[in-house]
Amino acid sequence: MLYNPADQRPFELQAASKDSELLERFDSEIRTQVPHIIGGAVANPTPMVEVTDAFLECARSEYGLHLRKGVRVFAKFDSKIVGGSVKVRPAVSIIGDAITEGKLRRGQTVFEATSGNFGLALGWLGKLGIDVVALVSRRLQPGVVDQLRRDGVRLVNLDIDICPAPGMKGDADELMAKGVAASVRQQLEELGFDPKLFDGSRGEAEKLLARQDAIGLAKLLADTYGGFCTEQYDNELNVQVHTSVTGPEIDQQLSVEGTSLGRADFICTFGTGGTAGGLSRYVETRHKRKGVRVVFPFSGQDVAGIRTKEKSAGLRFYDPDAYLGEHEVDFEEATRLFEFFNRKGYDVGESGALALYACMQLINYGVGKEFVVMVADGASKYASEVRAVARRGKRDQVRLDEAASAIEDYAGVVWVHNMFVPRAEGIRVIASSLRCDESEVKVADVRDVQAVLNGGDPSEEFEKLLPRDDRSILVVCMAGNTSLMLAKVLERRGIAAESLIGGIVGLPESRGKQPFELVQIASPV
Ligand SMILES: Cc1ncc(COP(=O)(O)O)c(C=O)c1O
Repeated sequence: MLYNPADQRPFELQAASKDSELLERFDSEIRTQVPHIIGGAVANPTPMVEVTDAFLECARSEYGLHLRKGVRVFAKFDSKIVGGSVKVRPAVSIIGDAITEGKLRRGQTVFEATSGNFGLALGWLGKLGIDVVALVSRRLQPGVVDQLRRDGVRLVNLDIDICPAPGMKGDADELMAKGVAASVRQQLEELGFDPKLFDGSRGEAEKLLARQDAIGLAKLLADTYGGFCTEQYDNELNVQVHTSVTGPEIDQQLSVEGTSLGRADFICTFGTGGTAGGLSRYVETRHKRKGVRVVFPFSGQDVAGIRTKEKSAGLRFYDPDAYLGEHEVDFEEATRLFEFFNRKGYDVGESGALALYACMQLINYGVGKEFVVMVADGASKYASEVRAVARRGKRDQVRLDEAASAIEDYAGVVWVHNMFVPRAEGIRVIASSLRCDESEVKVADVRDVQAVLNGGDPSEEFEKLLPRDDRSILVVCMAGNTSLMLAKVLERRGIAAESLIGGIVGLPESRGKQPFELVQIASPV
């Protein structure tokens, strides 16, 4: 496929701008391996399986629900696609288009702000001679980080999912942005990029980071280093691929079962909105109805790869008017379904489990008869995380009043952040707020915090800060996010830790103070 007839430019121009050998390899090794249209039909579809019996059994045995007979539930296992998730579809479409258009050639780097699966979906690019750098936030599950690394995707860790206390916003954001930019520069240098080029865009990078705009940063890095940014949150192909392939693919499979998306509701979760948008458009055009129900975890719940409703609002592809319904359900409750289905041998990840759990709730409330539920990815990279949630049953974060009133019950108070350390005034404020002695507030080394968050091994110094008995430690950070993530990682290692909600900037005693009075960057670059 050296010549693209859809391309209106003269052949010489097309041939000159495009990496034809790359395109040929891409077509034979990648594009044909994933669902695609050939002669009006979808080749290589992912499996769609009727799971009604297992579903009804799960409702009965795990939740005591006796659901009405006559419902049918099909699971669409995108967990079985080469590359392991629904994100492979847009990734292949976007990269294919970029190669065809001459925007991506061997030797270039692809930059993407990813929630994990999109980065994994780009992992195969390495074997075609293209590097992938994923900008990831602390909220990625360690299992996902491990898999990204195994796939050769190079990571730049950001810590921008942080929300300073009201009244401190501007300054705290600026301080954060400088800290994160310093860390990004260092990480880029470690990955072999020339840090001086980054310095030329550093002001712009800090502005983007102050707005917590990881997507903008990925674009900036692509510009700075002559790479390509997939822009999954803005790229129309992310939606289109579901309209042109996933929708017809499901109908093709449903027709064998004597039904279609004209009758069955499609249920999916929301990351970028590509799946929800693409399927909505397909069902609307083909069947003249709204057919997509979008599922979100409860506000504040952290489910890998997907968003809560409040974090979806404002995204380009979030379009509630196009959906048949929006449903917020409890992820903690869904973990029982996750375990049940995986015990039965179905490969269902967190997001698919949440969608199936929402389907159960709908049926319980008498809504709908036939459903197709998107199982967006598999379980392997999440199993330990979900088991930890299910086993724990106890809190991993705590409010200031609760922590202060039971401060003697903790094995210690430890400041944990991978960029900032408290100044003497910060230590004083933490100790005074928690009503403990300043000497009891320990500070973990930033490198140890980074190592633990990345699933690596911290130093012996860090081990000394951990409890020797089954008591918890109280971990405190800037705004309560890094400490929460760390508490979760420690929990998986069998160490009880509780994160102070709101962090140092959330303490009443911090009000009116500038962040730099309380903390400083640990090792400026
Ligand atoms: C596990 C998982 N489920 C669902 C989604 C949602 O997909 P979309 O981006 O199409 O909304 C994503 C990714 O974004 C994901 O990683």
